[in-house]
Formats: sequence, structure tokens, C-alpha cells
Amino acid sequence: MTTKIFCDIAELDQIKKFNKKKIVKGFTTNPSLMRKAGAKNYSNYCKEILKITRKPISFEVFADDSKNIINQALKIKRWGKNIYVKIPVTNSKGVFLGKVINKLNNDNIKLNITAVYTAKQTSQILNKVNKKTKLIISIFAGRMADKGKDPVPEIKKSIKLAKKFKNVEILWASTREPYNYIQAKKLGCHIITTPPLIIEKIEKFGKSFSNLTIDTVKGFLIDSRKSKFKI
Ligand code: G3P
Repeated sequence: MTTKIFCDIAELDQIKKFNKKKIVKGFTTNPSLMRKAGAKNYSNYCKEILKITRKPISFEVFADDSKNIINQALKIKRWGKNIYVKIPVTNSKGVFLGKVINKLNNDNIKLNITAVYTAKQTSQILNKVNKKTKLIISIFAGRMADKGKDPVPEIKKSIKLAKKFKNVEILWASTREPYNYIQAKKLGCHIITTPPLIIEKIEKFGKSFSNLTIDTVKGFLIDSRKSKFKI
């Protein structure tokens, strides 16, 4: 099984550039990325993105109560066939959004369940979904690693739990370094989403150890010459 690479991104010019790459099989966004990209009108901004790509793309709801989450999800879904509606696993108070996930999944809406950290949450989600409507579960590996937690066991267990669901894909989210792609592949993740710069580094994988040594030494040499260091 191959691990698909998605690009975690919101800048329109970057989406244009990365959409052309064969290695990029889809896109993910979130409200923070949208804000950073300067989006002012959320709906219009998403529609601009949709003019650029037909690849799968996740747009997140930002309401915090079930009724409004459902309303936003229904609106977002109507914007295009390639959309996965991103729903957080809980609201901001930590209340599991199982009923919302169940309703939207049964309405045949493709979902990307986000802000997932544990296999226990994966199990709760799987208990609420059918075996036909496409669904992604995004596990935030980098954010847990940032806090000293190992993402690998949680992702491994989640993949095992999702095995019986052919419609469910486990996504390594919150990528911190190119090597995370190798880790995601080893685990059998269906997807990894990574920032654009990391995709460019993945494209350049394959340099030999001896060339790495030469490049490293060259770098130190160039810098010491530039600084005219003397001993
Ligand atoms: O888009 C979801 C996730 O990939 C965000 O990652 O870097 O904000 O932890 P990050």
C-alpha cells in the first residue's frame, strides 16, 4: 500500500504550484492556515481554492455547537464534489461530537475528523460511522510529539482498528519533518499531510551518505571562508 501525500496549505499561489505536482494527491486546510494566508471571507476563499484544484480537499467547520456545525457542514459540502468536510472530534469543551459525525456520515457526506490524538478517539469515531461513506481520521502526530508524546503507537492502533472499514483512511497530520513520511509509510498510514516545504524535501529524498558528508563539510567550509575565520 502506498501512503498518499496531501499538502497542508491555504495560500492560493502555493495551492496553484502544488496542484501541478503529481506527488500531491490532495489538500488539507484549517482555519488557522486560512487566517495565516490572509483569508477574509471564508466561503469565498474556499471557492477560490476550488477553482484551482479538483483533487480531494478538506475544509473545516468552525462552529462550536452541534446544530451550527451541521449547518456549516451542509453548506461546505455543497461547494464541490472533491470536498471532505473537516469536523473536530470534540467541541472546544471536549464533548465528543459522535452524534454530529454519525448524522453527517449517514447523510453520505465525506468527512475528515480532525484534532484526533488517540486510538481511543479513533475507536469512538469508528463506532459512529458506516462502512461505505468515505471518511478520513486525522491524527496530529507533530503536536503530540511537540509535547513529548510518541505518536507511533496511537497511529498504529488506529490503523489496526480501521482495517475493517474499507471507507476509512488514517491520516498522519501535523507533520514536522520529511522523515515523518517514512514513518507514516512504515505504519501503513493511508495519507500524510505535510506543509509545502516538506514536500519539496521529500521530492529530493535519496542522497547517499557519502554525498551527505561532502555537502555537510562543504557547507562548513563555505561559511568559515565567508566569515574569514582564522585560528
Ligand atoms: O491541518 C492539520 C494539521 O496538519 C496541522 O498541523 O502543523 O498546525 O500542527 P500543525
